[in-house]
Amino acid sequence: MNRFLFVLGSNWQLSLAEIDNVLKNSQFKGRITDYSANIAIVEFDDLHDDRLYANKLMELQYMLGGTQKIAEIYNFIDIQTVQRAFPLQIEQYRQVDIKRKEILKVVDSSLKKVFPSIARESLFFAVSIYPNLYDDNYYSDVLLKHFLPFLNTEIMVLLKENGAKKSLYYKYPQENIDAGNLNPIFPHHVIKYGLFNRDRAEIIFGFTEEGCYVARTLTCDDPNFKKQIDEERPFKEFKSAISPKLALILLNFLNLFEQRERKTILDPFVGNGTIVMFALIEDFQVFGTDIDETKVKNTERNVNWLLNELEESVPYMLNERIKKVDINQLSSVFNEERFDGICTEPELGPFFKQKPYYTEVVDLIKSKLNPLFKATFRESFKVLAPKGRISIITPVISTIDGGDVQLNVEEMANFYNFKLIPMLDLNRIVNKSNRKLQFKQAHVRAILDAKKNQIVKRKLYVFEKINESS
Ligand SMILES: C[S@@+](CC[C@H](N)C(=O)[O-])C[C@H]1O[C@@H](n2cnc3c(N)ncnc32)[C@H](O)[C@@H]1O
Repeated sequence: MNRFLFVLGSNWQLSLAEIDNVLKNSQFKGRITDYSANIAIVEFDDLHDDRLYANKLMELQYMLGGTQKIAEIYNFIDIQTVQRAFPLQIEQYRQVDIKRKEILKVVDSSLKKVFPSIARESLFFAVSIYPNLYDDNYYSDVLLKHFLPFLNTEIMVLLKENGAKKSLYYKYPQENIDAGNLNPIFPHHVIKYGLFNRDRAEIIFGFTEEGCYVARTLTCDDPNFKKQIDEERPFKEFKSAISPKLALILLNFLNLFEQRERKTILDPFVGNGTIVMFALIEDFQVFGTDIDETKVKNTERNVNWLLNELEESVPYMLNERIKKVDINQLSSVFNEERFDGICTEPELGPFFKQKPYYTEVVDLIKSKLNPLFKATFRESFKVLAPKGRISIITPVISTIDGGDVQLNVEEMANFYNFKLIPMLDLNRIVNKSNRKLQFKQAHVRAILDAKKNQIVKRKLYVFEKINESS
């Protein structure tokens, strides 16, 4: 059975949760067998028997919001071998030499899989090292300064020895290597440098606590495409909009993987329409409502713009699908059990430039956010199909004098007959010895998504409607 290496997004816990959920519930059945803060190793149940598995992986990459690249694994080097070949401090030169030769053997056999043909070819490659954790000294002091140059030169030599006419490698900026803060080549560069061509490749050396996986990138995220939709649409407000990748992740947690073109999705706080636009791209039948007439018009125009860009026809009665509705009236506008899923980011409170006081936030929650979120669960229950899910973002607000304050979303959701679906199934995840890589039960019930020092953080929850009979 072949294995694949998934390069995770910056919120790696969320990326892992998204992948695991897809592997558990979609047609891409499989398991994460190993992981670090940068990569996941995935074994599919039967994907590799499929002759068109590379195309299937492209479909999967297109669907995932939190995966940067997918690579095919050709070899594995255990961690002791790497550490003996590249110790923090060299004491036994002979041992280093022997172990480096062992690594080269593995690399040589991988190269024959990376490049379908080597003899007489002019080849170009980029080496990407993904460490277990970026803030690991072993990465800055050894992997970047010694392993990377070793791989670059030795791969060049091996390719020549195997008959290549020419071999060149991608040169990373030396100042980043010296500073120890190098990021491997980004997806848009992988596309720009044509590293999916037969004579060009990105070769990934991805580390976990167990060792180093050697892989070749097969497909990657196309950030330009998402960025273009996000930035070039007629209406946007970056302060309040969620990112395209978060929109995709939320959609995937609805567990609607088959026949998406028949599945109806609602965003009852549609704003400028980020979620519905990305739901459209993922083939869903989209619906969006908002209390603000201007927002409704903006979303309508954004959706029309997107359909035009995609050269697709406008769905039947689009203006019936995007309309002005107060969340409190949702069930009087839409039929009972109308939607297969709800995916939304309600109002998260004002845009704070500075941290507010604790009492200010408590007042905001009591007077505004609690009633709004309660109405969301009450109304969503009515318009959702049996066992329908809601993926929802809730705010966690940092205060000056009282730490982080949040709503009691679980209690509200339970009151309106929703059960929480933990975002990551801990029974399916291997244990790690490094504490920074461990998951705790409390941390997977809902997952935070925030930048450093962000005042209003986003917390993602997934709930499922409890049927009266169950
Ligand atoms: C955080 S924004 C959503 C942003 C959206 N995700 C985007 O990407 O553009 C919240 C939206 O909720 C809407 N809203 C506030 N109160 C509402 C209510 N009672 N019913 C429906 N929509 C409401 C606001 O008009 C605003 O557009």
